[in-house]
Amino acid sequence: MTSSNGNGAKIQIPEIKFTKLFINGQFVDSISGKRFETVDPRTEDVIANIAEADKEDVDLAVKAAREAFDNGPWPRFPASMRRTIMLKFADLIDENAEELAALDTIDAGKLYSHVLAVDIPMAADLIRYFAGAADKIHGATLKMSSETQAYTLCEPIGVVGHIIPWNFPTYVFSFKVAPAMAAGCTMVVKPAEQTPLSALYLANLAKLAGIPDGVVNIVTGYGHTAGATIASHMDVDKVSFTGSTEVGRLVMQAAAMSNLKQVCLELGGNSPIIVFDDVDVDKIVDLALNGAMYNKGEMCVAGTRVFIQEGIYDTFVAKLVAKANAWVVGDPFDPNVQQGPQVDKKQYERILWFIEKGKKEGATLLTGGKSCNRKGYYIEPTIFADVADNMTIATEEIFGPVMSVMKFKTVEEAIKRANATKYGLAAGIMTNNLNIANTVSRAIKAGVVWINCYLSLGPDLPFGGYKMSGFGRDLGMESLHKYLQVKSVATAIYDSPWL
Ligand code: NAI
Ligand code: MG
Repeated sequence: MTSSNGNGAKIQIPEIKFTKLFINGQFVDSISGKRFETVDPRTEDVIANIAEADKEDVDLAVKAAREAFDNGPWPRFPASMRRTIMLKFADLIDENAEELAALDTIDAGKLYSHVLAVDIPMAADLIRYFAGAADKIHGATLKMSSETQAYTLCEPIGVVGHIIPWNFPTYVFSFKVAPAMAAGCTMVVKPAEQTPLSALYLANLAKLAGIPDGVVNIVTGYGHTAGATIASHMDVDKVSFTGSTEVGRLVMQAAAMSNLKQVCLELGGNSPIIVFDDVDVDKIVDLALNGAMYNKGEMCVAGTRVFIQEGIYDTFVAKLVAKANAWVVGDPFDPNVQQGPQVDKKQYERILWFIEKGKKEGATLLTGGKSCNRKGYYIEPTIFADVADNMTIATEEIFGPVMSVMKFKTVEEAIKRANATKYGLAAGIMTNNLNIANTVSRAIKAGVVWINCYLSLGPDLPFGGYKMSGFGRDLGMESLHKYLQVKSVATAIYDSPWL
């Protein structure tokens, strides 16, 4: 199958090679034999039928991961061996970038050119980053006050469950899996039911790279069955979840009610972008538009509440609306397109519901506000003004191409209103005034603050939330440590008179 990229060139849509669960190094059918459909949001057509994991399949995957952890080579390898194998895995991702990018495009409606230029190289790069960390995991030597000497060991935590969302399928897969691999853990990964294709493809690359059987297991299936089984499993030692705040709460509850497994949650947001009077308006208009609408707004860090200082408000908003009107929505294989379809029908309807709610609650629609008149789950880039801080579109996570613009007068007002949310994932501060930048960045309650940039991420930048956006960090050395636990070893000094 091919797709036109808009310039007449054809992009090869890959044959779907992997549709089965990946357990203990083998692609296998689910025990029930059940399958679910994954759909192309550009066309609403079924791409493939994927094996549907349920409790019994997750049990098998956990058993394989347990065996690989308790008796297999991966945690016992010299760390340099884990490094070498992970580097090979990263190389294979680069070598297969076009196929992987096409899979994320047809499964999630993501822009092909961006996945190819950004998501896939970033995924490979962060696997290399954590490969480099694998042989630098050290404890400390301690001089205790009693007559003992002691040291700490950083040991892998064990079997990890990764529950993954659909908005950045390959990238989030890599930032969950890579630090856990480097730490010496084994794992069961549940991709989102909307986007199972790239995870299964990555499983095959992991096998080709030489990652031993049982280290990475993939259970494709639904959240309330496969996902919930991971969260409540007595033999999973840690669960790392990215998704909605509502499901994050269920995961934590299941962990508490089962084996008290450790939990790390990266949840929703409705992040503020605060624009002060002194900025270069044209540049920041582009930043803000991307900050809210990139990846069709399906981003946990989407800067959906844009606070603009009164002196530039009218000019800024006029330019923002003009740019949004010129924003090209269409087939994500076309390199001229800036916005593809929403991931699935449910998400599409949810976003349209929020847009209607905004209109009903009295916000002023400046542009967009409806679906595009074509097949597929396309929605117009939408901007609302006159949005009160307590309106639904300002308080909830929409996860779509919808932005609210708000006017403010003072630094204090901006801080207070930006923080008036249950979420705290990210924030943007746009100013050339150092004092304002420093004051606001310290006052904002969010896990990531971007000054004069937005969406800037990298392997070494810890990423995660404050407040109801969750806790624990992906990326950075913090994320390596979330897959390790500290063991303290104290040794008696026998000749001591004090023992
Ligand atoms: P979701 O939270 O249901 O899905 C995320 C992952 O959790 C998927 O793999 C899903 O299968 C799994 N899951 C669902 N129920 C589960 C359960 N009971 N136990 C364990 N795992 C479970 O999110 P959904 O329904 O796809 O999207 C709804 C909203 O969630 C979005 O509109 C957005 O606001 C938010 N969301 C936030 C994400 C983020 O990056 N923080 C990513 C995806 C969604
Ligand atoms: Mg799909």
